[in-house]
Amino acid sequence: MTEILPADGRAIVRAVEILAAGGLVAFPTETVYGLGADAGNPLAVARIYAAKGRPGFNPLIAHVADLAAAQREAELSPMAQRLAARFWPGPLTLVAPVVATFGAKSGVCDLARAGLASVALRAPAHPVAQALLVAFGRPIAAPSANRSGHVSPVTAEHVAADLSGKVDLILDGGRTPAGLESTIVSFISPAPALLRPGMLPREEIEAALRDKLAAPDDDAVVAPGMTTAHYAPAARLRLAAQGLEKDEYGLDFGGQLAAYGSVNRIVADLSPEGDMIEAAANLFAALRDIDARGLANIAVAPIPTEGIGEAINDRLRRAAAR
Ligand code: TXA
Ligand code: MG
Repeated sequence: MTEILPADGRAIVRAVEILAAGGLVAFPTETVYGLGADAGNPLAVARIYAAKGRPGFNPLIAHVADLAAAQREAELSPMAQRLAARFWPGPLTLVAPVVATFGAKSGVCDLARAGLASVALRAPAHPVAQALLVAFGRPIAAPSANRSGHVSPVTAEHVAADLSGKVDLILDGGRTPAGLESTIVSFISPAPALLRPGMLPREEIEAALRDKLAAPDDDAVVAPGMTTAHYAPAARLRLAAQGLEKDEYGLDFGGQLAAYGSVNRIVADLSPEGDMIEAAANLFAALRDIDARGLANIAVAPIPTEGIGEAINDRLRRAAAR
């Protein structure tokens, strides 16, 4: 049975009870909804993998309230701490070596890390996520709250469509404001590396570091959940389209496709004014809507690649791969 509650104070209390008992709670973050479990409880974490139908045990992001909580779990270098101080709470995930605990119980179990000696940590900014983390007082492991292979959910309804019956409680906090997942930066190698482009633009991170982000090492674990077809919807997407072909519907940006005169076959415009933040917020809901309508062939307008455009184009490439 899945309960869905508006995310008020009473619902947070209920959520903490469920997490403490090893159950699953879906909750909104500023990026996408997460499917949360007590990160220190391997049985609870195993339920996350079962609910998502994940093929393997990808390591999960451990959500924490703040930098102090993160430092109980990971060895954060001065540069990693600088990013945390600058961008947390917010859409940035830091991968760093796990802290040697010497017998003290770690808040993130081996299964949540998929056995790696590193851990991915993020302090989300969404008030519901913050309230939940503060009330629970321990890290919450949470991948995006979708079935494996589906796009990430940005509403409680999306979560219910994918995971009804598999999650104990969905905290409904409305639509998430950002709409794309967090940016993941690894501090495992000497040079910080961008493992996944996301809501926080690379340029802002590089400005804070006063250095370029490296590409991930080939032999490093490169955000293992990022297989190319990870975000694939059922529809076939043709990217950077200059107009519609026969049988195609359009996913527009800034009215570019509409300008070719195919207005009645345009399913949505991610941002009529060409605002990239708005486009990011609308992307996953638009992809879900395309599948819900059973459309087979979609032409996607070109989208600029700078700033948040790097993450939007990354997700579109994955959605187009098959
Ligand atoms: O915005 C987000 O990041 C959302 C919200 C819920 O916080 N979460 C999210 O989680 O997107 P998920 O599980 O869908 O993606 C987590 C990514 C995966 O690609 C995973 O492989 C990577 O983080 N990851 C986790 N731990 C890692 C580690 N120790 N080393 C390298 N990559 C890691
Ligand atoms: Mg995901």
